[in-house]
Amino acid sequence: MKGIVFNYLGEMVEEEFGLEAWDSLLQKTGLDGQFVASETYSDDQLFALVAAAHEATGIETKELVRSFGRYMLPNFRKQNPQFFEGHTELKSFLLSVDRVIHVEVRKLHPGVELPEFTYDDESDSELTMHYTSPRKLCFLAEGLIDASAEHFNTKYELDHTQCMHDGADFCTFKIKILN
Ligand code: HEM
Repeated sequence: MKGIVFNYLGEMVEEEFGLEAWDSLLQKTGLDGQFVASETYSDDQLFALVAAAHEATGIETKELVRSFGRYMLPNFRKQNPQFFEGHTELKSFLLSVDRVIHVEVRKLHPGVELPEFTYDDESDSELTMHYTSPRKLCFLAEGLIDASAEHFNTKYELDHTQCMHDGADFCTFKIKILN
């Protein structure tokens, strides 16, 4: 994960729980908190911070990761407004994540570690996304999808019908658009 992701995590923890909370997570995990945005850091450091946040708050790990996804999307948008231009609805935006956004992100940031999504485009109101990543950050994806839906004022249901955390080779999100 790039340092920018750690910096967003730090900002989120500071905004929600205060600076001391972030300092204490850094202390518990033995990290110095000096993350350079463009550098790559070990995923284990991210997982250690999430585990420490779970211990400190009692909030389930998957809920913490989902909240982080929700927090990240508006920040991605501020940094890359061009990826939202041209989309007036959620489905076309989600289809562009693997086909356009992450392709461009890979060109801009060589070495970036991105997931793979494949899609079943069933109908105007249904989209199935299959998520594969060695990092198994499917709950981050759920949070990113949730914040994207909010951006497009879309009500939706998401059914995470199979999960890598339960031993599946990939996760499947069945998304139903309600409005
Ligand atoms: C403007 C929109 C977006 C931008 C600019 C963007 C960019 C990025 C970047 C830079 C990372 C890698 C971080 C790293 O290596 O440190 C990342 C990871 C990720 N992105 Fe996107 N992304 C966007 C939207 C989305 C959306 C809407 C989804 C969900 C459908 C998504 C799913 C993910 C996931 C799950 C990861 C974590 C890495 C992994 O699972 O292996 N992204 N994205």
